[in-house]
Amino acid sequence: MDQTALMLLLCLCSSALSDELRLVAGRSRCVGRLEKKDLGDWEPVTDWNWNWNFTSAAGACRQLRCGSVVSLQRDEDDNVEIVCSDSVRLVQGTNRCSGRLEVKTNQSWSSVCEKDFDRQDAEVVCREIGCGPPSAHQGALYGEAEAPVGSREFLCEGSESALLNCSSRKSSGRNSCSPGQAVGLTCSDNIRLVGEASRCAGRLEMLHQEEWRPVDVWYRYWNMNSVAAVCAGLDCGSAVSARNSKEASERPVWWIRSDCFQSGSALKNCLPYGRHRDQSHEIICSDSVRLVQGTNRCSGRLEVKTNQSWSSVCEKDFDLQDAEVVCREIGCGPPSVHQGALYGEAEAPVGSREFLCEGSESALLNCSSRKSSGRNSCSPGQAVGLTCSDQDNIRLVGEANRCAGRLEMIQQEEWRPVDVMDSYWAMNSAAAVCADLDCGSAVSARNSKEASGRPVWWIRSDCFQSGSEEKNCLPFDGNNYRSYEFICSDSVRLVQGTNRCSGRLEVKTNQSWSSVCEKDFDLQDAEVVCREISCGPPSVHQGALYGEAEAPVGSREFLCEGSESALLNCSSRKSSGRNSCSPGQAVGLTCSDQDNIRLVGEASRCAGRLEMLHQEEWRPVDVMDGYWNMNSAAAVCAELDCGSAVSARKSKEASERPVWWIRFDCFQSGSALKNCLPYDGNSDWSLEIICSGLLVEPLIFLSSSTDGVSTGRKQGSELLIGSHFSIICSIRPQYEGGSFQLIFSTSNYTQNQTLPAVNHSALFLFSAAGHAHQGTYRCVYHVYVFFYNFSSISQPLNLTVSGKLMESIRKSSASVSAFPTALIIRLVVVLLGMLGSVLLLYFKARRNQKSGPENNHHDEGSRAEGSLEEETAV
Ligand SMILES: *[C@@H]1O[C@H](CO)[C@@H](O)[C@H](O)[C@H]1NC(C)=O
Ligand SMILES: *[C@@H]1O[C@H](CO)[C@@H](O)[C@H](O)[C@H]1NC(C)=O
Ligand SMILES: *[C@@H]1O[C@H](CO)[C@@H](O)[C@H](O)[C@H]1NC(C)=O
Ligand SMILES: *[C@@H]1O[C@H](CO)[C@@H](O)[C@H](O)[C@H]1NC(C)=O
Ligand SMILES: *[C@@H]1O[C@H](CO)[C@@H](O)[C@H](O)[C@H]1NC(C)=O
Ligand SMILES: *[C@@H]1O[C@H](CO)[C@@H](O)[C@H](O)[C@H]1NC(C)=O
Ligand SMILES: *[C@@H]1O[C@H](CO)[C@@H](O)[C@H](O)[C@H]1NC(C)=O
Repeated sequence: MDQTALMLLLCLCSSALSDELRLVAGRSRCVGRLEKKDLGDWEPVTDWNWNWNFTSAAGACRQLRCGSVVSLQRDEDDNVEIVCSDSVRLVQGTNRCSGRLEVKTNQSWSSVCEKDFDRQDAEVVCREIGCGPPSAHQGALYGEAEAPVGSREFLCEGSESALLNCSSRKSSGRNSCSPGQAVGLTCSDNIRLVGEASRCAGRLEMLHQEEWRPVDVWYRYWNMNSVAAVCAGLDCGSAVSARNSKEASERPVWWIRSDCFQSGSALKNCLPYGRHRDQSHEIICSDSVRLVQGTNRCSGRLEVKTNQSWSSVCEKDFDLQDAEVVCREIGCGPPSVHQGALYGEAEAPVGSREFLCEGSESALLNCSSRKSSGRNSCSPGQAVGLTCSDQDNIRLVGEANRCAGRLEMIQQEEWRPVDVMDSYWAMNSAAAVCADLDCGSAVSARNSKEASGRPVWWIRSDCFQSGSEEKNCLPFDGNNYRSYEFICSDSVRLVQGTNRCSGRLEVKTNQSWSSVCEKDFDLQDAEVVCREISCGPPSVHQGALYGEAEAPVGSREFLCEGSESALLNCSSRKSSGRNSCSPGQAVGLTCSDQDNIRLVGEASRCAGRLEMLHQEEWRPVDVMDGYWNMNSAAAVCAELDCGSAVSARKSKEASERPVWWIRFDCFQSGSALKNCLPYDGNSDWSLEIICSGLLVEPLIFLSSSTDGVSTGRKQGSELLIGSHFSIICSIRPQYEGGSFQLIFSTSNYTQNQTLPAVNHSALFLFSAAGHAHQGTYRCVYHVYVFFYNFSSISQPLNLTVSGKLMESIRKSSASVSAFPTALIIRLVVVLLGMLGSVLLLYFKARRNQKSGPENNHHDEGSRAEGSLEEETAV
């Protein structure tokens, strides 16, 4: 989607309702195709991105001064069609199918008096607003109203399509109607599960426009949380399972947005679109048990439904056998914990029964039970909280080790390879997979293409954003060629670090993870760990770097030689004096990370085509979602330590070639970049980036009649008074032309002079040196390339002038004070020999510079040096 379209969309969703609106071509002014006035013209409102929902439609009805929103459709041209009720609406309810009834008469809305309204009338209203039959209607359900005025007594037969079609008469004794007697109405569920014996299991259907149809969900957001919302909406128990089934042929369905299911109450706010699809969704909810307020669907406070209402269970009425039955009933693994008050205190359990399960029953209500004895002795803190173990639904296969291999997921009792439908798969996902399997750190991840298609489970990538979410994922049946392989380390991991290559070290021994004591761990050990998790060599290791741990327990002293491939391959011995290891001494480790991106094709490492290293192969990069901007480029420049982004563009190559496809949000921040997992593919596009740190650092040399040429980088340079000298600025050849500015400064004085660069150098000549020449000199190289000005500054050269000042020299130098133009003989001709020696020096200086810690450009390839040598030889 391009930016204009995005803007347009935002406008539509957020501000359309402030525009002037109308509905056209419908049976009334409250029904029809939505149009808005745009610069004086009426334009149809379109919803090509399926973005309209109940809230936006309700807003339109409100603005049109119509009643409740009844339906929302798109025609073939994506035009929005809305049906609002004409003269009835429900207000202040929890959803669109409940609220206080208001009727429009004489252009104004008023409440209806309870005594003027009966069950038949309610049926008509619920039908009119597109909801299920009425389940409750009574006064003051949804807040008190002004005392209903102008009320009529309705005399519906029940089959009318609108309330104002019913006959009515003036309400008798109107004055006797108090505010608390305004009709509140609740229309019933518009969803159901069909096709199974229980009302809590089966194919999901929705009632809309008086028609029940199977539901198809915009599946990208359909997960176990949505299913739980359906179960709750039906007043069933926990979500047990869900699957998507493919029908033999297409048929009419109600197609809904998955955010309909964000919460139980919103369900009735769903406005489906009519469509033909071959998908439907089957759901199983438990009938009469549920776990509430837990951290996932397999844990929580137990509630049992008896006599149409849910209540907690008293701890003393519930034992391990009972827990086994409940965990089985909700489709989780065997119970691991059950005790009171684990998941918040409940109302004191009432009407509790003591359960007498044998453990093999399939449902709690199949167990025999008896009235709980001494019920009054059960306090709120004793409501049963239950944790069922969750079964692993993923595994890695195909390698010797359970912590490496192709990712598979089990669904409907079938293991299949996994593919991600939204093509976003990152090292973070890999880390979640590794964590979920209780393996160590994520070491590598790749996707591979299979020779032939085969059944896979399609999932959304954010299934793996965190370990817990993944259990809520609902995979879709499908076929594909791709599979994903992960390698996790087996028995070491770094936790709480800023990236995958740093953190507090934990080692798994005897099925549990523990920290390592600083004194049991040395540099060789660190080298092995960094290698094992596929990071660069260790740069730091010390205690308490990444948060304090529990004092390391059961720690072993590692005796690695440094070349082992895994820490547990090192010999080790029981740590001596273990008790002396405090929490602050748990090993924190930082392994250096290797750069996995570079810019190529230009004279500078800070400009050019973006390439990425993946599976040991450098390839150009393309962004799969086409989104590429200065922020992305800025992240690349920052990552390469090249300053800020100056330009970013996509350029087309002559032909397709292999690239690494990435998602643009890989570049949201520098740190995320290393977590990107690219895809294999072909493209004829390149990403070109120019960073502000384009230029290498110029070099500065001092040449004097007495001492020859020297660099002033390390210590200050000293000149004999009266000697002639020159300062030479030079830069490694990157771009033609440019200029050098020589900046001279003392503590109270700054001046500068500029010369054009000739052969990437400039020579600033000075006559007899005097004290006024003492100070700091710097070369700044300026060049205009790629339509931008760039500059780069040299190290300082500190010059001191020593010796007796002769009167004659003082005279001449005093007349022009310090760094005056008159003292500089402008360079007209550069002697070739001079230049040669400068370049030789340059080369030497660079070699020295390579080992210097202050050097920022240490990794400019040897290719550049080679070309320098060539030039020197000329
Ligand atoms: C069920 O509830 C009804 C009314 O709320 C009550 O009359 C009845 O006794 C209850 N039955 C049981 C078994 O608790
Ligand atoms: C549980 O009870 C239901 C009916 O209440 C029955 O159909 C089912 O067979 C029972 N199952 C077991 C395992 O007892
Ligand atoms: C491993 O754990 C078990 C039980 O937790 C314990 O009995 C055993 O001694 C442990 N072994 C080692 C080597 O620590
Ligand atoms: C490390 O240990 C594993 C078995 O524990 C063995 O297969 C592997 O060869 C060892 N590697 C090295 C380098 O010692
Ligand atoms: C700078 O300061 C020095 C003394 O610190 C003084 O001799 C000199 O004249 C000053 N130069 C200028 C240009 O102000
Ligand atoms: C260079 O000198 C000019 C005047 O000659 C001055 O305007 C400019 O600010 C100076 N630049 C620097 C970097 O000192
Ligand atoms: C620049 O260097 C080249 C050789 O590298 C030489 O031929 C040429 O004359 C030089 N130009 C100037 C203006 O010195």
